Amino acid sequence: MGQRNLVVVSSPDLAKEVLHTQGVEFGSRTRNVVFDIFTGKGQDMVFTVYGDHWRKMRRIMTVPFFTNKVVQQYRAGWEDEAPVGLWRTCGPTRRPRRMGSCFTSEAVAAPDALNGERSRLAQSFEYNYGDFIPILRPFLRGYLKICKEVKERRLKLFKDYFVDERKKLASTKSMDSNSLKCAIDHILDAQQKGEINEDNVLYIVENINVAAIETTLWSIEWGIAELVNHPEIQAKLRQELDTVLGQGTQITEPDTYKLPYLQAVIKETLRLRMAIPLLVPHMNLHEAKLGGYDIPAESKILVNAWWLANNPENWKNPEEFRPERFLEEEAKVEANGNDFKYLPFGVGRRSCPGIILALPILGITLGRLVQNFELLPPPGQSKIDTSEKGGQFSLHILKHSTVVLKPRSF
Ligand code: HEM
Repeated sequence: MGQRNLVVVSSPDLAKEVLHTQGVEFGSRTRNVVFDIFTGKGQDMVFTVYGDHWRKMRRIMTVPFFTNKVVQQYRAGWEDEAPVGLWRTCGPTRRPRRMGSCFTSEAVAAPDALNGERSRLAQSFEYNYGDFIPILRPFLRGYLKICKEVKERRLKLFKDYFVDERKKLASTKSMDSNSLKCAIDHILDAQQKGEINEDNVLYIVENINVAAIETTLWSIEWGIAELVNHPEIQAKLRQELDTVLGQGTQITEPDTYKLPYLQAVIKETLRLRMAIPLLVPHMNLHEAKLGGYDIPAESKILVNAWWLANNPENWKNPEEFRPERFLEEEAKVEANGNDFKYLPFGVGRRSCPGIILALPILGITLGRLVQNFELLPPPGQSKIDTSEKGGQFSLHILKHSTVVLKPRSF
């Protein structure tokens, strides 16, 4: 009735082969009927095949998003907003506000609901039957119609709030070298030079809304959940923060590198609760060979990064949340993919360029929380529920729990 070629990679050696040694051969992406809609058949960066368009988009996105200069430009904003972001994580809007941009709060809040809807529609398994079996696709008409509507509404919002608003501002204010150049200004420059068209601009905004925000938010949620459920780890982290920084001195981005236990807590969260456990699906455009097998062209390649990081053959008691492992037996393992058994951000050509922002944001957010509050389960509960919800390639917490934040007195 229908078939798809699927390869699941579950060993560090084969992961190295796919992501590094044969990184070009396996550097494309598969999409499905739903991702075709949300990305305009790969006019974006995350879901486009490996080639000139991807290279150009990744280059254009690097200066405004993926450099240490960007971290330095925006870190004060993350630091200021960490308590607010936390509040929002736990509160109704659930979204950290600033990821490297300078927009009004409406621009930031408006896409929230639609981003959530896009994520639900794309990550759901509900449409698998029509995606795998083409003759059943007519039954998906209703589902795909909703996807198209959500996509149109999101792109319109991005155009109104991000692109047009910024263009208006640029035409009324002089953007001299002292004024803060915002991420979107770089992208609009590229459009003006004719390197990309307006659709590409909107898909870049779309990619950032998805790739950057949900992954970081889910990881913060997992971090909070694990710290609530492991009070002894929370206390040890608080002790480190107090000793290294002094009680009441609020953590800033440069401090995050001086706090090995905080780094270990973050790594352990990303190991056990990997937001993108199968990476974003890879694909080989042409016939290839892998581990002695012939891999037909356009096969979907899933690197099972979660298993690599949770396989008992490679990790001591992997089911335990134990940050100490990253200070003891796994002290040399970093989040940047220096060891193929630990790839929370992937590695190689299609690896996550946002790691440079994600790690300090996680450090500042979790650090400030633990410095300022005792994180507790709701009264009457000894733990919060950490059941997981998986999607096409995502993993997040199933139920949002209430967490008690008991302020510390200094
Ligand atoms: C904790 C937070 C994050 C996690 C766990 C994460 C994880 C990942 C993973 C696993 C991939 C796929 C790698 C592969 O397929 O080989 C990816 C790709 C990507 N991520 Fe992240 N990410 C995070 C935050 C961010 C942030 C903050 C940004 C942007 C500001 C970002 C932008 C991207 C982009 C653009 C891609 C696609 C790269 C490409 O296809 O060339 N991510 N991320």
